[in-house]
Amino acid sequence: MKLSDIEFRAMDSWWRKWGQAHFEIPLFQRMGLDIRDKDVLEIGCGNGHGAYLLNQGSPRSYVGLDVMEEQLEKARQRYPHYQFLVQDATDLSQFRKASRDVVIIFGVLHHIPEWRKVIDEIRGVLRPGGGFFVEEPRGMDLRLFEFFFRWGHPDSDFGVWRMEQYLRSRGFKICNKQWTPLMTMYRAERL
Ligand SMILES: C[S@@+](CC[C@H](N)C(=O)[O-])C[C@H]1O[C@@H](n2cnc3c(N)ncnc32)[C@H](O)[C@@H]1O
Repeated sequence: MKLSDIEFRAMDSWWRKWGQAHFEIPLFQRMGLDIRDKDVLEIGCGNGHGAYLLNQGSPRSYVGLDVMEEQLEKARQRYPHYQFLVQDATDLSQFRKASRDVVIIFGVLHHIPEWRKVIDEIRGVLRPGGGFFVEEPRGMDLRLFEFFFRWGHPDSDFGVWRMEQYLRSRGFKICNKQWTPLMTMYRAERL
């Protein structure tokens, strides 16, 4: 689903970029993210700041996808040398099965009512042993954001506990989980 205007602007703010660079990526790295010489897919890459940060880690390949043209326009203007695709994450059929070592998500599944389908698709494109790194807000935080900022998230039954259960039921092992003030961060492995 497209972002509301207020969230679109917030995602391009200095504090969002600062948090991703100095907090989220380093925490994922401490949890085991190492993308050197790996094939990486970022889902919901937004304006491309994550692409810029991830590409500092020298992946073999990087593709960022997002459903929102306006986000990718910014990404392409800022980082013309990275690969971005307009694509709904509920359909990853354009990627070969078992072709990615790492799939990474910074706060996207709570925007997608069919989030289970996205997890199914991620399972399909990950190689056995591949890593799925995902951070998502908890239900209480989503409600707080909605109350104070009216970000207009879609109606969805998404929740991190449900996501955990679903990941396990679809053949992922949860290897690491970190609680942070606004998000819960996971490293899962495709078995
Ligand atoms: C909260 S923003 C996060 C953006 C970026 N990952 C970041 O951390 O700054 C959520 C992103 O998910 C994208 N998105 C929402 N629904 C999507 C879908 N079905 N498929 C792909 N991307 C989607 C939105 O366009 C938006 O860029």
